[in-house]
Amino acid sequence: MNTQYSQKVLDHFMHPRNLGILELADVKATEGSPACGDQVSLYLKVNPKTMVIEDISFQSYGCASNIATASIITEMAKGKTLDEAEKITWKESADALGGLPAVKMHCSVLAVDTLKSAIKKYKIEHHLIEKEKFSKDLILKELRSVVYPNVGEDIVSLKMVKYLSFDKGVVTIDLDVPSFDPMRDNIAEEVREHLGKFPEIKDIKLTM
Ligand code: FES
Repeated sequence: MNTQYSQKVLDHFMHPRNLGILELADVKATEGSPACGDQVSLYLKVNPKTMVIEDISFQSYGCASNIATASIITEMAKGKTLDEAEKITWKESADALGGLPAVKMHCSVLAVDTLKSAIKKYKIEHHLIEKEKFSKDLILKELRSVVYPNVGEDIVSLKMVKYLSFDKGVVTIDLDVPSFDPMRDNIAEEVREHLGKFPEIKDIKLTM
């Protein structure tokens, strides 16, 4: 096993908590990682009066980091209200695991994104929120899931997105990434893959 992993990661990988299908779940969400093609499903049982997540489970078809993150996220989310649980960040989950190698950050992003989409799905299905219209804001939100591996933060927070527009199906993005940065191609590929899942986007014009 890779020694870059903390004891906590290894523990959650070898002994995942809340693993499997939750038969009485109110909602299930599945997300795939654009970076590696792996998938995670999360199941939630929610108290309709208190909005507390009373039970939660996961299935992962991902790597050790993903299994460990999904596992710890179920522990972090259980007992929280939907509003509290959707504030859990991938950084908090990675920190709770004692850190993850930089190239594995997208694995924790996948687990946290799946939790967020399960919560959103529940809220939409129970008419607590309305389905978001596709917009530039949604694109920006998605770009917050693209992690710059060297520092483990997303490219929006790092102010790497200099320009963004969406017009007639075409997204135009200008990223601030130095030409000598070894992560350049990796970031461009992740941006394309993240945005590629939206049928509303017909073309991506990316400059750096
Ligand atoms: Fe795919 Fe980690 S490499 S989830």
